[in-house]
Amino acid sequence: MLKHSLTLRISFFFSLAIIIVLTGIAFLINNAIEDHFVEQDKLVLEDKISTLKELYNETAEDNLFSIIDSMQRHAGLVILIKNEMQTLYSSEGVNFVQSNLGLKINIQNKQATTWEDGGNHYLSVNFILEKSGEFNRMLIGTLAININHHQQFLGVFNNILIKFTIFAGVVSALLGWLITRQGLLPLIRLSEQASIISMKDLSRRMPTKQLPIEIQSLSYTLNNMLERLEVAIERLSNFSSDIAHELRSPVNNLMTQTQVCLSKNRTSKEYVDILASNSEEYERLSRMITDMLFLAKSDNHHLMLTKKELKIEQEVQDLFDFYEALAEDKNITLVISGSAKIIADQLMLRRAFSNILSNAIRHSYENSKIHVSIFDLPNSISIDFENQGNTIDKKDLIHLFERFYRVDKSRTHGKHEGVGLGLAITRSIIDAHNATLSVCSENKLTTFSIKFIKDKLILK
Ligand SMILES: Nc1ncnc2c1ncn2[C@@H]1O[C@H](COP(=O)(O)OP(=O)(O)OP(=O)(O)O)[C@@H](O)[C@H]1O
Ligand SMILES: [Mg+2]
Repeated sequence: MLKHSLTLRISFFFSLAIIIVLTGIAFLINNAIEDHFVEQDKLVLEDKISTLKELYNETAEDNLFSIIDSMQRHAGLVILIKNEMQTLYSSEGVNFVQSNLGLKINIQNKQATTWEDGGNHYLSVNFILEKSGEFNRMLIGTLAININHHQQFLGVFNNILIKFTIFAGVVSALLGWLITRQGLLPLIRLSEQASIISMKDLSRRMPTKQLPIEIQSLSYTLNNMLERLEVAIERLSNFSSDIAHELRSPVNNLMTQTQVCLSKNRTSKEYVDILASNSEEYERLSRMITDMLFLAKSDNHHLMLTKKELKIEQEVQDLFDFYEALAEDKNITLVISGSAKIIADQLMLRRAFSNILSNAIRHSYENSKIHVSIFDLPNSISIDFENQGNTIDKKDLIHLFERFYRVDKSRTHGKHEGVGLGLAITRSIIDAHNATLSVCSENKLTTFSIKFIKDKLILK
């Protein structure tokens, strides 16, 4: 129960603290009162003992005992007197044995002893009586005073203290509960606010200004989380509508072509042409579905990397060989400079490089140059893909890595038109390698840069 309720937990510890403090105070008060009573009783006893000493010096022994008899009438006083051999005087009905324990030490320290006999409590002081000049007439004795009334008072007092401490514990637990509830009210309001935010209402934000500073940061954190969720959900819903758009065109094309084809009898050449055209659309659809599956895997961190050491310049050179024909069509020169080794998944890295390079070839001016520079720096390795072509607008640059984002929004599906997933895939591959991908486009020069931090280049 305590585990689950913060209010109960705080109330419990609050009342526990109050009980500990009150018990400590009660203990101190009780000790102080007890000491005060002992001091008072001791003073009475010492006063009587000094009277006895004077009397013993001045009067005969027999006379002394009759004086002691009358002195005993003083409420609650009892006395024992002995010489070396025997008991000379002992108050009736009292067993002094306990009071005589450590007699000599007690006498020297003027120590008071408390003891109990037959239900009565006594405080006693031991003393010595001697006649000046007569060493063989030394008597030892114990004078005790009945302290039942003090014990009773202390008993009642302790009882009151215990009851009060328990009462204070209960009251402080209740107060603690009220105070905690009051203190947690802003948190309860915050949770109420959070509970009314639904997926349809993600633009709502938590209040921050009216909150106490202790939970303001929680509210800021929740708001940041909501912001990220809102962006993610918006991206997700855009993604679904994009998928629908992207699939609609090829499927419509396929449907229309097939319906037109079926509307009348065709020659076998016409059928072959239509099937060839359909095959292109199927290819495009299949590529789109494969790309989307790849992205879904990367979103769920299911990309399995098989890393090994690679020479970057070798990988780029292999791609240059692959794209040579395409580049030659536009008379584009492919140049590579620098070299570095890297630990990465070869197939994935090729796919990322290939996406950037195919884009570069597609968007380069004719008779231009594509330059891939590899920089092996002390802490990092950078690979820049630079091509000459139309500058990409700043407003497009920030969206370039988003799924289905194309600078040309016409969604025409020419033979060489891409789907708009290439750079999204490239970024997910680069992310999976703990590297960064950035783009810069100015003065008809577009550069895609991949940066690997050397410390993060590990085989796992
Ligand atoms: N080097 C470049 N120069 C100019 N624009 C570019 C360059 N690279 C990419 N782009 C723009 O970025 C958009 C997104 O590129 P991305 O590779 O993601 O998609 P795509 O090439 O259109 O399709 P896909 O790669 O899926 O076949 C492109 O449509 C293009 O407009
Ligand atoms: Mg592309």
